[in-house]
Amino acid sequence: MNTDRIVSTFTDYFREHGHELVTGGTLLPPPSDPVLFTTSGMHPLTPHLEGRPHPQGRRLTSVQRCLRTTDLDEVGDRTHLTVFEMLGSWSLGDYGHSQSLRWGHELLRDGFGIPPERMHVTVFGGDDEVGPDDESLGTWRELGLPVELTSDENWWSHGPVGLCGPDSEIFVWTGDPGTPPQGSPTTDPRWVEVWNHVSMRYRRLEDGGLQLLQQPNVDTGMGLERLATVLQGHDSVYDSDLFEPWTRLLPPLWDLDEPSTRLVCDHLRSGIAVIGDGVRPSNTGRGYVLRRLTRRVLTTLWRDDPSRTLSDLPTELLGHTLDHFRQPGDTGRVRGVLVDEERRFGRLLERGRRVLGRPRFEGPLSDEDYRYLHDTHGLPRDLVTTLRTP
Ligand code: ALA
Repeated sequence: MNTDRIVSTFTDYFREHGHELVTGGTLLPPPSDPVLFTTSGMHPLTPHLEGRPHPQGRRLTSVQRCLRTTDLDEVGDRTHLTVFEMLGSWSLGDYGHSQSLRWGHELLRDGFGIPPERMHVTVFGGDDEVGPDDESLGTWRELGLPVELTSDENWWSHGPVGLCGPDSEIFVWTGDPGTPPQGSPTTDPRWVEVWNHVSMRYRRLEDGGLQLLQQPNVDTGMGLERLATVLQGHDSVYDSDLFEPWTRLLPPLWDLDEPSTRLVCDHLRSGIAVIGDGVRPSNTGRGYVLRRLTRRVLTTLWRDDPSRTLSDLPTELLGHTLDHFRQPGDTGRVRGVLVDEERRFGRLLERGRRVLGRPRFEGPLSDEDYRYLHDTHGLPRDLVTTLRTP
């Protein structure tokens, strides 16, 4: 099943069950939001989960692009992506958590063809603040799925304060299909989490206290890329259809080791989506995230060949990414932003090498040296470190 079919299977299913599709899906939260980028499917719905009526009703579904920079150093492995999409469904004070789990089970089994013998779930087993999630436990037992109870791992929160609640996660067995699944989600990594159903009933207060929401909600999220990888039987997200043009076109262009190829694919694809949502490189905020992504790509490309340039990036990759994220941007303009940033970074590196070649900077650098290099020459600390690494 290719990614487009996965998306339509998911959204059609929820529409048939009375959910309205929320479209848009930009990476940029509204100006009043202190967070730079949308980090989960529920993020844009926060005011409505807090109780403000949503114009489209109490049952919603969406495909939301998200950006997480917390995992930046893990990019290059088989599963982490900077920009990814979440398939989500919500009950804003409408149906209960048990109903959501039943639909989740049915859609995975009948819509996506995952045999229930290859599913395992986890449920919140309680902690010193909130009791065990008996409702979910009962539902899963009735549906006949194996359940593992945990505490920390089955509590979802949007941030240190704000919306939160116990969750129940559905895992799919990715081991050899010929042998029966083994162990449980916490003991065997071949159990891969695909779908999280949060019973969003609480608000964490500034003083650490927990308050019950007036409106109990259900918030679910399923990472599209991970689901595609599992359904298509791959180990790595980069082998899914989503990355097909990238893995076909990049290696002949730039001969890199596998982790570097993955990093370049991820950061360029993420950078294109960020530009597609209207961000431009800068030294602060969102623009700085874009700048870091682009510079990490260039540092990787230039490590063994400084003549590599983003001008060579195939237009098909720009177009494929904008299309995938349903962004109207034009490929020429996006490439222009990337190439401008490349030029700027090239000039900065040249200046950096010249300045760092001075005798004053031969030995170990003090904090004052770093400050001077940054304030007078615009050389950030991490760049100085890179330039001084033999
Ligand atoms: N908000 C939940 C998550 O992101 C569904 O996992």
